[in-house]
Amino acid sequence: MESKQIGKQAFDELGRIENLAELEKFRIKYLGRKGKLTVVLRSLKDLPISQRKKVGQETNRLKVELIKTIKKKNKEIENWKLKIGNSKIDITAPGVKLPQGHLHPITQVLLQVEEVFQSMGFKVVEGPDIETEYYNFDALNIPDEHPARDVWDTFWLKTKPERLLLRTHTSPMQAKYMEKNNPPLRIIVPGRVFRYEATDASHSHTFYQIEGLMVDKDISVANFKAVIEEFFKRLFKQDIKIRLRPGYFPFTEPSFEVDLKGGKFKNWLEIMGAGIVHPNVFKAAGYNPANWQGFAFGMGLDRIVMMKYGIDDIRLFYKGDLRFLNQF
Ligand code: DAH
Repeated sequence: MESKQIGKQAFDELGRIENLAELEKFRIKYLGRKGKLTVVLRSLKDLPISQRKKVGQETNRLKVELIKTIKKKNKEIENWKLKIGNSKIDITAPGVKLPQGHLHPITQVLLQVEEVFQSMGFKVVEGPDIETEYYNFDALNIPDEHPARDVWDTFWLKTKPERLLLRTHTSPMQAKYMEKNNPPLRIIVPGRVFRYEATDASHSHTFYQIEGLMVDKDISVANFKAVIEEFFKRLFKQDIKIRLRPGYFPFTEPSFEVDLKGGKFKNWLEIMGAGIVHPNVFKAAGYNPANWQGFAFGMGLDRIVMMKYGIDDIRLFYKGDLRFLNQF
């Protein structure tokens, strides 16, 4: 092979070399004892004198150039190694996907709950976690010294002169919303609530409730039943029946405990408290109880998520254990 061709081939190959081992192989291939250039130089003596000088000069020039370029390449590779360590970066490898989180199961179901209620004309409003004693109790017809206050074991904050607390239910937002908005109205109030009580598989000091309130001219228990049955049918996508049992809440009269059954829920399950808004609650909010009627309800969101997925321990929601959360 002519030295020109050898040169072209050599510089082509050199461009593709990426590490020192390859470079050394390359050097041997061209400049080693049996290397391509070495062979040409050694066979110069067999050439006719007329060519010997020209070929000799050309080949020697190429040899010098190649040695220089190999040295340069060597430095280049040493520099890369310094920069990237010994790790070999494969720039053609497919990218590694960033791990992506997802919404907490409680949030997922809350979004579904909101969507169903919105489809039935309810507006979603929210209130603060920290409340005044007035809205958490008094405005809901639970005055100081009322024995029913004991039902809601309360986290009181050390504030003065006003006594603040962590809301024990989402009901305060009923009073607050009615103070600022005129009927007719339909709202739900999702939110976190707090109870000063011991934790076990079905109790947590922090959990989620969804309050509901509908006020209009002639609202009856039948309206409540229809709305709630429809809500559960749409949420669980099963043929759900509900049943009312007498209950007691200071802010409703009459009051009910509401049970649900149907689809995969074979037995009656207690699901929420509800009732017809008490006249005193309307009065506190500035409505004339002679003109308006309404139903209200409050349900535990955690309970609904547990029913939906067959979870038997509420504490799982608040542990942040990814083995649990990644199942949703
Ligand atoms: N606030 C009640 C509780 O936490 C639940 C409740 C019951 C809310 C009846 C209501 C209602 O609005 O009408 O136990």
